[in-house]
Amino acid sequence: MNARSPIGMLDSGAGGISVLKQAVSLMPREHYIFYGDQLNAPYGTKSKEEVLALVRSAVRLLLASDIKALVLACNTATAKAAKELRAELSIPVIGMEPALKPASALYRGGAILVMATPGTLSSEKYSLLSSQWGEHAVSVPCPGLMEFVERGDFSSPALHDYLQTLFSTWQARQVDAIVLGCTHYVFLKEAVRRFFPAVPVLDGNEGTVLQLRRVLAARNLLCPETQSGTVRILSSGSEEHLAVLRQLYELPFPEQDA
Ligand code: DGL
Repeated sequence: MNARSPIGMLDSGAGGISVLKQAVSLMPREHYIFYGDQLNAPYGTKSKEEVLALVRSAVRLLLASDIKALVLACNTATAKAAKELRAELSIPVIGMEPALKPASALYRGGAILVMATPGTLSSEKYSLLSSQWGEHAVSVPCPGLMEFVERGDFSSPALHDYLQTLFSTWQARQVDAIVLGCTHYVFLKEAVRRFFPAVPVLDGNEGTVLQLRRVLAARNLLCPETQSGTVRILSSGSEEHLAVLRQLYELPFPEQDA
């Protein structure tokens, strides 16, 4: 493994593609291998033991490509497996967490809604984060929401109904910020904004990629400036699953709110 080696990224599926896109835009000369574990998705409703076992086997596959760093492009995988992987691997492991810290700075007396998987919101890691930055945070678990993204559905009536039910008690109240605490939801940012047009919607993607860059720089592992970047996208699922990942990689997605 050296500075020319690829960066490995993984998620249960399509959500991590939003992190990959952010990484490519900030560090276009790197080599990337992205693995979407779509055969075993969703992670967000599975136990810690199940997620840990799935993530370990996905990581074995990425390690076979001699990756120089591992990005858990998944809040759930980070919450359930990052600690163990950091103890087991010699390469750096970069994880994600809901953007509670930047959201807390937007507090004006209303609520900070944190949309994430049940697995993330019930994790020990999230309760630690929330005890530090979540005084005004309200957990909004979204079981079944990542499946819309996996189907490539960003605007159907069924998605609208799902979000309408989710937000019904909040639309008449003051909401100061919405945190997208699952990488899949980044692709649903426009759909969420339709319910709260004036509310900032935050995700953790940029923070994660900046952290990746800092960690690589600190270890002298940033690729040479002359290198031409490449992206390989793999899936544990079918050809159709892989096609979803590739399509999302091509799709433009909304910028982070201020
Ligand atoms: N994309 C994942 C996350 O950031 C999880 C989706 C799932 O598999 O439930 O939490």
